[in-house]
Amino acid sequence: MSVQPHSPISATPSVARARPELIPLYAGLLCTVSGIVALSSDTSRVTDRPLPFVALVVATLVMHALRFDLFGRGTQSPAAVLIIAVAALFGPLGVIAVEGALAVYSAFRKTALSRWTFDFGALSLCGMSAALTFSLLPSSSEPWILLASSAAGVAYYMTNSVALVGVWLLDEGVHPLAAWRERMAWLAPHYPVYGLLGGVLIVAQQRLDPFIFGAAILPLVIAWFSQKQYLERSRKGVEELRESNQRLGDANDALQDLVTAKSELLADKSELLERVRLSYLQTVASLARTIEAKDPYTGGHTERVSDYALMIAVELGFTAQELRAVETGGVIHDVGKIGVRDQVLLKPGRLDEQEWCEMRRHPEISSYILGELDIPEIAKDMARSHHERFDGKGYPDGLVGEAIPLAARILSVADTLDAMTSDRPYRKALSFETALDELRRNSGSQFCPRVVEALLASCAREPGKWQRATSHQFVATLDV
Ligand SMILES: [Fe+2]
Repeated sequence: MSVQPHSPISATPSVARARPELIPLYAGLLCTVSGIVALSSDTSRVTDRPLPFVALVVATLVMHALRFDLFGRGTQSPAAVLIIAVAALFGPLGVIAVEGALAVYSAFRKTALSRWTFDFGALSLCGMSAALTFSLLPSSSEPWILLASSAAGVAYYMTNSVALVGVWLLDEGVHPLAAWRERMAWLAPHYPVYGLLGGVLIVAQQRLDPFIFGAAILPLVIAWFSQKQYLERSRKGVEELRESNQRLGDANDALQDLVTAKSELLADKSELLERVRLSYLQTVASLARTIEAKDPYTGGHTERVSDYALMIAVELGFTAQELRAVETGGVIHDVGKIGVRDQVLLKPGRLDEQEWCEMRRHPEISSYILGELDIPEIAKDMARSHHERFDGKGYPDGLVGEAIPLAARILSVADTLDAMTSDRPYRKALSFETALDELRRNSGSQFCPRVVEALLASCAREPGKWQRATSHQFVATLDV
């Protein structure tokens, strides 16, 4: 069988990038190897019997002319039978002479250079492997000749398979084994028979018996005819299959493009949503800082409260995600003060009852502002419940003990600690130790004992960090 490079689209899976530009090099390599083998072989086997040799060459050319197309990927002819006979009788030089004659015939028919050089090199090597196999096996009697020629047919097929799979890989990048299965496997049982028929020709030539010669040629013609019929019938089905495969491939490509475009759109959309969310959060955070900036006595309060709350939450074993939420809640928890009048918010003296009522509304206003915002629930809980008391006397919901979210209980301690250690118009800042004593004294009534204990443990473990934080040097910041 010979190859037809640049064959149509295949259903065989691709495994590598096609390199058709390397086919001439590959063909040249095969020609060189077969030429070297032929030149080093014995010439006397041809020169001793010129007439049978010429007869076989002519018969091979005739057989070759009867070749038929294999679904656009190669050609098949019974010429292999004669080449196996030539290989057995005349050795590698005989084979290369026959293949040379076939190459000249192809060149005259204006077959592409890469194709006929590949055919010449590959088929010469096939014939030579058949010749080598035949020469290595005993051929002392006719049964042995038939057996050896049959084995030579197998060698021919195997060499041809390797050569063709190589050129298909270069031409189409197809998987070698898959391509062999699709295109070559079905021919495997044919070649031992071709070899056997070649053996019958050898016996006929030795006996010079025309009946035996006819016995070899007749099944050959029948096999060629039945193969041709089979391929004619299958051709239409194979072509339809290839077209369907092509259509499926095109549809798959279109679908892939659609999925990629949709994924990009979704990614853009979620990126946009995330930007909107962050932008809203930044607006709320800057609002909280704006409110704080109105009061010169509370500058940096939110950041310090965030720092304290974070250090306590770390002590209580919060996860990284929860810590991030605590940090956010620490910054935005008092945003509801936007709803409190300035004369109340900034009043230097103590607030009267009505003013306190107004001031006490800020956690609910914070909760309302943050309600629809896509931020962790922990941060929302901190904003709403940071003025709840452990004994239930806090506001706005009068929650008691563990019913108050833990992050809000932490914020309550952190908020109070900062308030006590900051200057106020009506009093100087308390020392850190005095503030801690105050927290300890109110543990279990105003503050959650667990949180106060965690604060004290953190102070004992990392005194330097707390000292820096309470001396108004930030130890952590929130990037919102
Ligand atoms: Fe508050």
